[in-house]
Amino acid sequence: MDASQVTQVTDMLYALRNPAGVPTYPILFVGLGVLTFALHILFVQLMLGTSAITIFGAFKNDAKWRRLGAAMLEISKISVSVAIVIGVAPLLFVQVVYDPNWYASNVLSAVWVIAFIVILIFAYWAMYGYYFMNSKEKDKTKEPKGKAWMLISVALLLTVGFIMHSLSSQMLHPELWKDWYQQNGVLDYSGTKLHAYNLWRFAFFISMAIPVVGGMLVTYRRFKMVRADADMEYLDFAANVGKKWIAIGSVIAFVFYVAWMMTVPETAGNFATSLWGILGGVAVLLPAIWSAIRLNGSSYNMCSYMALPIALVAGLTIAIVREMLRYDILNGFFHYDFMDYKIVMDWYSTGMFFLTFAIVGGVVLSYFLTVAWKAGQTVGVYTPSAFVNRLGTLSIWIVALWVLQFFVVGFYVWAR
Ligand code: HEM
Repeated sequence: MDASQVTQVTDMLYALRNPAGVPTYPILFVGLGVLTFALHILFVQLMLGTSAITIFGAFKNDAKWRRLGAAMLEISKISVSVAIVIGVAPLLFVQVVYDPNWYASNVLSAVWVIAFIVILIFAYWAMYGYYFMNSKEKDKTKEPKGKAWMLISVALLLTVGFIMHSLSSQMLHPELWKDWYQQNGVLDYSGTKLHAYNLWRFAFFISMAIPVVGGMLVTYRRFKMVRADADMEYLDFAANVGKKWIAIGSVIAFVFYVAWMMTVPETAGNFATSLWGILGGVAVLLPAIWSAIRLNGSSYNMCSYMALPIALVAGLTIAIVREMLRYDILNGFFHYDFMDYKIVMDWYSTGMFFLTFAIVGGVVLSYFLTVAWKAGQTVGVYTPSAFVNRLGTLSIWIVALWVLQFFVVGFYVWAR
């Protein structure tokens, strides 16, 4: 591309920008976008990895694998919900500062954007269908029914992920949007095509599910081993599978990462060999390096709660690298800088956002997680302590107050 073509693209991007501006510093949106993307992709990987174990377990004629498969299904169905809920956050942030790119990419593939929801619903149903077909069965070592539903669910979940991947890829190619919209002089309003993708990049994000679920398995042993009825032979088996998956998975993901870096768009220049590109590669290997040092054999050293935080640190580093790649292309090559977005400061909504995050999210989540944690480690029925009960009551009050202020402020602004 020559300089005048680049200028044309820069002008187009600035013309598409929302003239109303943004309500706080744009860097906050990008920072939160990176953080929430890291959480989203961690739960996506947990959901896919635990589903893989469930499928392995279902097809293997082995009692321990079957038990493990049934246990991981419990985590998988919750991870789908969390992945979806946390997926909304980066969606909101990316569309605020990269609105020209995100909306152009969405409109160009509108049918897929809408299909995304429908496919996701069917994926969810298929997983729950499989779950309900087998949930009544007390003996988890028996061959489960309806195995095909689990395969269908994973295939549909991967399709959903591929749509997201394609939308993220298309936004990096503003120079091609017009060609995609108008082919051989004919305008294509259909939105039926996914125009850009990089299979290495997609495979990389998906393959990280292997070390992540490995981390989950060693955490599972750590969590369950304190119960009075712990079956240590089974838990040791789970942790050994986990260690293997962390080691092998990190290497597989590393290979895909290198392939992704070798195929980044030309507009990214020499990003692959930059400090960021190399940092991403080191992050991918982090779980394997940590596991080799920390999980080194003897009983105590077979498991650790640190496995998942380590996976999160690796994922967060990769999320930063992924964002730097986008910035390098859109700012470095096309001179579209999200940092110069017009700011129309709105302290109330900015403060409200962070307070909601810290207080509402903090207290309510602490309550839910405490109950789930304690219930998981209790044999029989769990009865919460007076403190946990108070935390529950406090959570209800905080949510009620939040809803009240929402309507009070809303009516005040409306009546002014
Ligand atoms: C449950 C199945 C899902 C899977 C397997 C999945 C997978 C992925 C993958 C692989 C990426 C990275 C794409 C890339 O950078 O190449 C991604 C990004 C993303 N996903 Fe998901 N996703 C799922 C559901 C969702 C849902 C339900 C939402 C939102 C409601 C969502 C929102 C996002 C957003 C906003 C991004 C980042 C876009 C960007 O900043 O470029 N995802 N997802």
